[in-house]
Amino acid sequence: MTEKKAFSSLEYLFKPRSVAIIGASNNSSKIGFKVVDNIIASGYKGNIYPINPKGGELLGLKVFKSIEDVDDNIDLATICIPADYVLEGIQSCAVKNTKFLSIITSGFSEIGKLKEEEEIVNYAHQHGMRVLGPNIFGIFSAKCPINATFGNKYIEQGSVAIVTQSGALGIAMIGKTDTEGIGLSAIVSVGNKSDLDEADLIEYLVEDEETKVIVLYIEGLKEGEKLVKVLRNVTRRKPVIIIKSGRSKRGAMAAASHTGSLAGADNVFEDVISRQVGGLRALSVQEALNWAKFIAVQKELPKGENAVIVTNGGGIGVLATDACESYNVSLYDNREVLKTIFDPVTPSFGSTKNPVDITGQASSDFYEKAIQAAIDSPDIHSIICLGCETGIFNASELNTVVQNKYLNIFPKKPLVFSFFGGADFETGLFTLKGKGVPIYSDVYEAVSCLGAYYKHYRNMIYAEDHDIGHKEPIIDIEEIQVVIDEVRKDNRHFLLVPEAMRVMEAAGIPIPKSFVCKDLKETIYYAEEIIGYPVVLKIVSKDIIHKSDAGGVALNLENRNELIDAYEAIFNSAYKFKPDAKITGVEIVKMIKKKDAVETIIGARVDNTFGPTVMFGLGGIYVEVLKDVAFRAVPLTRSEASNMIKQIRSYPLLLGVRGEDPKDIDGCVEVILRLAKIIQLCSDISDIEINPVLAFAQNKGVLAIDTRILLKSQSSEVK
Ligand code: ACO
Repeated sequence: MTEKKAFSSLEYLFKPRSVAIIGASNNSSKIGFKVVDNIIASGYKGNIYPINPKGGELLGLKVFKSIEDVDDNIDLATICIPADYVLEGIQSCAVKNTKFLSIITSGFSEIGKLKEEEEIVNYAHQHGMRVLGPNIFGIFSAKCPINATFGNKYIEQGSVAIVTQSGALGIAMIGKTDTEGIGLSAIVSVGNKSDLDEADLIEYLVEDEETKVIVLYIEGLKEGEKLVKVLRNVTRRKPVIIIKSGRSKRGAMAAASHTGSLAGADNVFEDVISRQVGGLRALSVQEALNWAKFIAVQKELPKGENAVIVTNGGGIGVLATDACESYNVSLYDNREVLKTIFDPVTPSFGSTKNPVDITGQASSDFYEKAIQAAIDSPDIHSIICLGCETGIFNASELNTVVQNKYLNIFPKKPLVFSFFGGADFETGLFTLKGKGVPIYSDVYEAVSCLGAYYKHYRNMIYAEDHDIGHKEPIIDIEEIQVVIDEVRKDNRHFLLVPEAMRVMEAAGIPIPKSFVCKDLKETIYYAEEIIGYPVVLKIVSKDIIHKSDAGGVALNLENRNELIDAYEAIFNSAYKFKPDAKITGVEIVKMIKKKDAVETIIGARVDNTFGPTVMFGLGGIYVEVLKDVAFRAVPLTRSEASNMIKQIRSYPLLLGVRGEDPKDIDGCVEVILRLAKIIQLCSDISDIEINPVLAFAQNKGVLAIDTRILLKSQSSEVK
């Protein structure tokens, strides 16, 4: 990229003192009209400069024939002229020291015109301008306020900030947030993300006092590593709710063609963004808005994780209990304390266990007392209030409960409602939702809000724990580079077994003792004098990568006779497989008894989206079928590596089942951290995979049995 002039902070994007609209039009069906109309309607107090070569007047404002005629510097220029004229348009903006360009115009990288887009960004950067878009609907910021979008005219102000890659969905979200009673501190469309992206914006929004919750809609990431770095810090301070489309393979293809950028593989995205750096990942836009609304109204973090369900029906109580498990909400179960709290407010035939069942005869009075008891108790930290329509408890009672317990006395604890019933109930729900009450007909929707909030709570409470006890492993990077240089000299992109072993040794990863022998005599010597039977023989040839496929591996050789037979057999098979193969010798290694160990797989690779990443999973031959693996971005801490191991479904195998000893999980953590270090420091390496890494009993260590290392192709290095 060409040299940049210094940039301003994003303050003037969100709080511009002056705004120019390039392509302002008197034609009310054009975007250039709508943007000016919206800016005026939003009550913007700064200077507005509509620009159009025809001049004249627009909505009571003087129209300038050129931005050069404006006697002012411009903080924000909104561009709504056709793509072919945009470069010329922004060249004129540079004359007025414009700080930010909001390029609404479509027709750039999303339709393959990458060069044109790059040209615009380069020009902007050379002149100290930053670019939002192109292909966006604009920006609304409650700070001024300013609505420089061509979306809805009136936007309710509040504390939720939305950053969206999809313009159409973004405009729809403005309407939806209005219906749901969610006020916005900002909504910004990032479109093609040619310059400013979601990471830049959330770095600003985390410092913005008005913003309590940030919502991101992402289709594809261009700079995953940057987002990870920013989210690591931001999620420890503010909740970031993320909707990422393209979860399915088909969805990912649609997203890629829609935005012109590739959607990252979803499992890596999920593990890195949600599990490693604390993003609150919602499955749908509706779920994201439910969470945003709920979290935005909370006054302070809960004092703990004891949740209680208050219900008039056993069925929805059980459903809510299931939902709590799904969303990681922990139900308080000290029965004695629960009895003390709820006995005075529960009928004798109800239940004070959690769910607290105030029974089908409960009127609003019962609800009020039960909720009040929960609010008053220091042992209870959050409340899920449920109700089914009954002959006694009807729609008007629902309103009384919510008005008295939510709207009149705003709760000091997180309180979420789910009420289920007929048409009157639904109307009541709709009205209350519009007043900002977190109330849903489905218990899962209600509980998911609390689940998301508790995830945020844990991000905040345990933020520092991630870094405790983390010591960077020391690896001999120079020795690894020597090996790589040798492989490069030999014009290869893969390492032979002895080379991979040297890398493992240099990284301090335990490997079985192995030697490469030139002939049978030497092989017998190593088997009998150095290693001891049983042993394994493997053919060593740079022409044969998959040794097993070529019959180049012989296992469990117990004595000299077996060794001699196997030696001849693997040579014969290898030559049959590839007659012109150059065979350097055989590798001899101790046969390891796998039965006392769990086979794991540990890998590291450079991901297209997130850069260097590591993988841990259940290893062995079924790894592709079971796909029981977890991913993390590099760098990662010891506790992140340990959480990654806990995440796999087979984790109980590592803890030891049916009386087995627990396995050496610390040893696995160490291998993960060392591979992370290699992939982070050796820019030549693209993939490392060790399968299996045998995890023996606790404190008995781990062994990397089979290691494959690939180098980046020279072309990707240049890139
Ligand atoms: N400086 C100032 N004004 C200019 C210039 C210039 N250099 N060049 C042209 N104009 C004027 C035009 O004369 C016209 O004014 P007029 O109505 O008085 O004649 C006005 O600017 C607009 O130019 P038009 O050629 O009429 O362009 P039009 O308004 O039809 O389209 C637009 C421009 C909207 C930018 C179009 O090219 C486009 O990209 N549309 C798609 C926008 C979009 O969807 N963005 C993504 C949003 S997100 C989502 O999906 C919802």
